[in-house]
Amino acid sequence: MPDHWITDTSQQSINMSNYLITGTSRGLGLCLVKELLKRPATSVGLIFTTTRSAPTPALQRTIDESAGRVVNVIVNPVDMESVKAALPAVEKHLNGAGLDVLINNVGVLPFSNGIKEISFAYQDVFARLPAPAYKVTKAALNMLTLQWGMEYLDKGFTIFGVSPGWLKTELGGEGANLEPEQGAEATMKVIDAARKEEAGKMINIHLEGFGEGHGDFYQGGVVPW
Ligand SMILES: NC(=O)c1ccc[n+]([C@@H]2O[C@H](COP(=O)([O-])OP(=O)(O)OC[C@H]3O[C@@H](n4cnc5c(N)ncnc54)[C@H](OP(=O)(O)O)[C@@H]3O)[C@@H](O)[C@H]2O)c1
Repeated sequence: MPDHWITDTSQQSINMSNYLITGTSRGLGLCLVKELLKRPATSVGLIFTTTRSAPTPALQRTIDESAGRVVNVIVNPVDMESVKAALPAVEKHLNGAGLDVLINNVGVLPFSNGIKEISFAYQDVFARLPAPAYKVTKAALNMLTLQWGMEYLDKGFTIFGVSPGWLKTELGGEGANLEPEQGAEATMKVIDAARKEEAGKMINIHLEGFGEGHGDFYQGGVVPW
């Protein structure tokens, strides 16, 4: 899934926010953690990271250098028992405070031969991507986001998706046109600017004057799907 964000709009009067990001062993998730760490502790408090096994050396280094701001919790998202077990582990560190932003970043892209035309977002590009399972789960996720966006808005949560750009990660491959750090910075800008109007939508990142031929990729706004 990923790229799905929940912000607790009832907490907007509080300047410091606590974050939880899933899938932070590498790629975009790890870069989002590093991006948040650039901000002062008065603005970003605790950053909970989740991995399904022990932190990678890269994440461990980030944790070690974070002065206690990054706390990793082992979670296997497909195992509800492990998800439930993560709750007290997170609450223990929050000392009665809340989580303000959940960035559900975990994602996997299995390639296979099969159905090849599902996604309408950037249809000309992705129609050729031989990853039907990825496209089907993304379409389902977008619908789930729409449902959650409507259901939880009155309860103070703004739930929406973000298209973080085509990134040079294990998932995106070397041919991608953005570094993961660029995607992380642009993604955080989308999250920072989120308003209730974004609930249920998929929001594109915005990159000013991005490379020739790719300029229309990253213009912000709502992504059609
Ligand atoms: N890269 C792109 O061009 C691009 C474009 C659009 C959207 N996205 C979305 O952005 C998100 C991050 O992508 P990425 O490019 O950073 O991918 P990535 O480099 O492949 O990293 C994927 C992350 O998800 C975790 N993960 C994968 N399968 C998992 C599973 N079954 N259970 C738990 N964790 C799992 C990985 O953990 P392990 O180390 O344990 O495997 C890793 O931390 C994904 O949701 C992806 O769909 C990426």
